[in-house]
Formats: sequence, structure tokens, C-alpha cells
Amino acid sequence: MPLITWGPQILVGIEIVDRQHKRLVDLINELHEAMQENRSAEVLGHTFRELVDYTHTHFRTEENLLQKHGYENYAQHRKEHYIFTDQIEIYRDRFEAGALSVTQLLMEYLRGWLVTHITSSDRAYVPTLRAAGIN
Ligand SMILES: [Fe+2]
Repeated sequence: MPLITWGPQILVGIEIVDRQHKRLVDLINELHEAMQENRSAEVLGHTFRELVDYTHTHFRTEENLLQKHGYENYAQHRKEHYIFTDQIEIYRDRFEAGALSVTQLLMEYLRGWLVTHITSSDRAYVPTLRAAGIN
């Protein structure tokens, strides 16, 4: 069973955002599965790096949209992204240095952050994008 179930409970209703969120969910689930199957550090590291890289890609997309359409909480939203990317980069670096394992606790952190961010902070900008004709 995947760590995060993809479904309406985490959709925001903006096509590009939902598509990118789905990819993030897939990568988190992939990392979780690799952890459960005791895959090698090489395999885990590969997925971990992909997750960090794609997080950057996704946040850039969102921030460009929010800035372009004058979202009033843009600065705060971007700050949440910064805090998260800083944190996962620290984890990734520590993992690569052999100083951190991918654990259930780490996976719960990733799931908790993403689901909470999507369902509260991301959903909050939807009316702004809708008003700008973005679907
Ligand atoms: Fe966001």
C-alpha cells in the first residue's frame, strides 16, 4: 500500500499543479517502497535526489504562477517552500554522507509536509489563479 494515496482529498483543481503534485507523491511513494524493500543506498539515493530535484522544479512552477498573478500571500508561500527545500537538502546530504537512514519517521515528515502544504497553503491560492483564468 502506498504511503500517500492519490485522490480527490489532495487535488487542488489546477491542472499543472495537480500533475506535478502527482509526480511528487509518486516519488515519495517510490522512496518509501525502496526503504521497505531494503534497497541499496544507491537506489535510495537516486530516488531521494530525484525527489529533491523535482521539488525545485515544482516550486518554481508554482512561484512563477503566483508571482505572475499577484497572489497576495506570495512571499509567505515562497518562504514555506524555502524552509522545506532547505530541510530536504540537509536530509539528502546527510543521507549521501552515510549519516542518515531513510526511516519511517523521515517518510512521515515528507508525507505530512506535502499533504498539509497542499491541502492548506496550496488550496489557498486557487481562487487567485481561477480569477486569472487558470484551470
Ligand atoms: Fe506550494
